[in-house]
Amino acid sequence: MDKMTVQEMDIRSKRVLIRVDFNVPLDETGRITDDTRIVKSLDTIRYCMGQKAKVVLMAHLGRPNGVPDPKQSLKPAAKRVSELLGRPVELLKDCVGPEVETRVKALSEGDAVLLENLRFHSEEEKNDPDFSKRLAGLGDIFVNDAFGSAHRAHASTAGITEYLPSVAGFLLAREIEYFDKAITRPERPFVTILGGAKVSDKIKLIANLLEKADTILVGGAMAYTFYKVLGIGIGNSKFDPAGVDAAREALAKSKAKGVPIILPVDRVIAQKMEKGTPTQLVTSDIPDGWSGFDIGPATAASFKEILAKAKTILWNGPLGLFEIPPFDRGTHEIASFVAGLKATTIIGGGDTAAAVNSFGLESKMSHVSTGGGASLEYLEGTLLPGIAALRDKKTAGVKP
Ligand code: 3PG
Repeated sequence: MDKMTVQEMDIRSKRVLIRVDFNVPLDETGRITDDTRIVKSLDTIRYCMGQKAKVVLMAHLGRPNGVPDPKQSLKPAAKRVSELLGRPVELLKDCVGPEVETRVKALSEGDAVLLENLRFHSEEEKNDPDFSKRLAGLGDIFVNDAFGSAHRAHASTAGITEYLPSVAGFLLAREIEYFDKAITRPERPFVTILGGAKVSDKIKLIANLLEKADTILVGGAMAYTFYKVLGIGIGNSKFDPAGVDAAREALAKSKAKGVPIILPVDRVIAQKMEKGTPTQLVTSDIPDGWSGFDIGPATAASFKEILAKAKTILWNGPLGLFEIPPFDRGTHEIASFVAGLKATTIIGGGDTAAAVNSFGLESKMSHVSTGGGASLEYLEGTLLPGIAALRDKKTAGVKP
């Protein structure tokens, strides 16, 4: 990786300001339903505490639009990170201001505190220089470990780097390492699996992957936009009208480049999007009143045949409605198969990560990303603002 990491800095006794992504899902009672992002931040936090640094954690939760909202407090995250570390991480009342400054000044070596939700201040999302400076005043070194937020040019991810020596944490470095390798020097064959709902959200991704991958497997509702272009009847299936042109272009480019885009050959259809609803399997046009919700067994078999030969697999987007059984079958079957392969297996964040987690297969993959939007943008080839501004090893004289 070209960026410096926290390991290459002398942080002993220093105030280390770590941007983490604790934007975790909560249920109605405020309980965390998936703590993966917190768990994956622990390496960096533990390392800094172990180095006797004074650790100041900062994060956002939800989209409170610059207004303090107790429902979007980081209280549950503070509790969870304390439990996981086995020592208290105090949640401060705010993320800036004299009280916060006093508390940070009083931090002992090896201690950690968490600042309250950065997005309670509108200046955070505006990347306000003054706000960035105030945050920077709470540390001697800035460590960005919030890969999930690295596509946001906010005060705590981008602006702050103007005022402090800025390096990557372990989680961020690991994400970059896996995605970078897949995109720039994958072991081949390099097979990508694309799913999810909209082609229009993934136009840039498809264009980039047509330059890099050897084969692209397409599932999910996204496939129905491609069927539309090919004149295959989709019944009442969801498709993305805004993505039709992009799908047409992608098919033409795939032919010209010799990078096959493989669409499902059979689909599981139903009249209702409900758990346990009666289904049928079709290999041709979907009748009116019916919608496709999953790939069928023949598709799963053909995908597996291709995946079995791959050395690198990158997966972005579920292949069916994995939250509603029986439409989870295709995604589950492919996930289990991929999990058993020797290939490097990289799972994009968001829904794909949620699916893999729900099947209990996370530990069997080489890498499961913590970033939804961030992983998508990274794979599109965009230089993420939260990464771009970190110190380069070359400029700092560190061997890459
Ligand atoms: C995410 O969950 O994708 C990140 O935490 C970024 O959150 P945002 O989409 O609200 O900026």
